[in-house]
Amino acid sequence: MKSRDSNQPIGLFDSGIGGLTVAKAIKDKLPAENLIYFGDTAHLPYGDKSPDSIKYYAIRIAQFLLDHKCKMIVIACNTASALAYDTVKDFIGKRAMVVNVIDPVVNKILQGNAGAQSAEKKHRKVGVIGTKGTIKSGIHAKKIVAADKSIEVSGLATPLLVPMIEEGFFNNKISRTVINSYLSRPKLNHIDALILGCTHYPLIKNEIEELYKGKIPLIDAADEVAQYVYQTLKKHKLLRRAGGKKPYYRFYVSDFTDAFEKNTNFFFNRKIKLEEARIWK
Ligand code: DGL
Repeated sequence: MKSRDSNQPIGLFDSGIGGLTVAKAIKDKLPAENLIYFGDTAHLPYGDKSPDSIKYYAIRIAQFLLDHKCKMIVIACNTASALAYDTVKDFIGKRAMVVNVIDPVVNKILQGNAGAQSAEKKHRKVGVIGTKGTIKSGIHAKKIVAADKSIEVSGLATPLLVPMIEEGFFNNKISRTVINSYLSRPKLNHIDALILGCTHYPLIKNEIEELYKGKIPLIDAADEVAQYVYQTLKKHKLLRRAGGKKPYYRFYVSDFTDAFEKNTNFFFNRKIKLEEARIWK
């Protein structure tokens, strides 16, 4: 690998605000790291775009993050992780490390079963909710079943959730009705764990929890990915030490939206200046 130094930022990208759930978890776990976030708001939602389009966007954004000297690129989007991870990895080569948001979640399920004290404690049927692109790819099922055939994985596309969340509709009557309608579909009957297979969904985790009344675990990528990023940087001796110097956070969008700025301020608990990166214009 090319020589890198720990002061180089971690780059993250998503179609919109969803990846901020991952950025926040990384910031909480690794408060000394410099972060650069790219929200591809010009192309939101990714969920119903073709795999070729997602690959094209992902490569252009990866180049943008490389231009900003990122030591690691986190694809903070399940749709792009499902459809473009290999493409991005090939494109980046040794220039930076690339992390997706699916493998850490899959590992969590598999480790849960491997470490279960009794057969009753093992997962038998795991539900996944995500965008059309993620669910159509079947990536969670492929990875989980390839490692443990005893687990059934049932995916349900929930395409209304991303636009709903981006519009700030959560914790209200409308969001509860939509969530309830999706989660009561037969595909999710008798599941013993639910993967929130979209980085936007931690924003409605409370509402999903209310519906399941805490009876099954809800597994989202944010904390799992933050832990994985920590371990990987540590292994490569690339963890940044603050040494009195505050980290910087920079946020770019491909198309400016008020909602994005509001949410960024909310997540990072401070006034954030949003920059428009005109990579498509
Ligand atoms: N946060 C993205 C994901 O995890 C959102 C997808 C979208 O833009 O539809 O898949």
